[in-house]
Amino acid sequence: MNYQFGLIGFPIKHSLSPWIHEQFFKRTDSLGDYSIIEIDTKHSFAEKMNELKNRKLHGFNVTVPYKEKIIPFLDELDEQAAKIGAVNTVLCKNGKWIGYNTDGAGYVRSLVSKFPHLATEKDKKILLLGAGGAAKGIYYALQFDGYKDITIANRTIEKAKEMIGEESNHVITIQQAQTALMQFDIIIQTTSVGMKPNIENSIIEISNVKENAIVSDIVYQPLKTKLLTEAEVVGADIHFGHTMLLYQAQFAFEIWTGKSPTMDNLDDELQKILEG
Ligand code: ATR
Repeated sequence: MNYQFGLIGFPIKHSLSPWIHEQFFKRTDSLGDYSIIEIDTKHSFAEKMNELKNRKLHGFNVTVPYKEKIIPFLDELDEQAAKIGAVNTVLCKNGKWIGYNTDGAGYVRSLVSKFPHLATEKDKKILLLGAGGAAKGIYYALQFDGYKDITIANRTIEKAKEMIGEESNHVITIQQAQTALMQFDIIIQTTSVGMKPNIENSIIEISNVKENAIVSDIVYQPLKTKLLTEAEVVGADIHFGHTMLLYQAQFAFEIWTGKSPTMDNLDDELQKILEG
């Protein structure tokens, strides 16, 4: 089998996914290619999807701005992806396109791989900062894996309530989160705040945290955001955003091939690439 995978999105010329999947091909003794298929937003998406159907790929990833736009072109939609309303992985099987979302589950895998005790400690008090697309994927994946105590803090409170789909006392403002930081075991930053070039920004000031708290940031450029730097100073265990990228890709690779690549040292290798 010579696997043919790809990535659609715009702009994606600098995507790290081809490198990651190349490592997976090697690590599973598989042959294959992973192509960048950039689709300019000025083109007709429907036309491009017709062209893509003729390319006979075995699977492809979908990134910004097409994660929702792809849905009408699918033949089947996985339950979690349907709940999230976004697709990042498509399996092409027997002429059918089946949509999945591996972002949130990949995030949870990355967290549990760094902190294995979390696999069984589902009662941890979790704070999610942000209520955008990334937050939604992570929220549902955490819930799906049995984590019960999840609070969402967002600048726009209505958006967080909409995300949970109910009136909930688990939705708070960023200011309330700031005051209540000491209550949480795991703090997960899911917005783009702090990303290059705005590296001096942080959605919240981490001035104190509970003993053994974990602070995680999905931003990976820079690798150590201001939020993570502050968290380290107050003694928290920190979790880097680039590991989410690796594990969402691992899950996609499994869906496409049925093979699970080992992840040893891959985060260090990707870290080196990101740090140039
Ligand atoms: P993504 O799909 O990447 O998660 P998104 O859907 O645009 O992106 O969501 C962005 C998230 O970042 C939202 O939670 C947004 O808060 P609002 O809902 O209040 O807009 C949050 N966000 C972006 N910039 C922010 C800022 N400067 N301060 C606080 N929150 C911010």
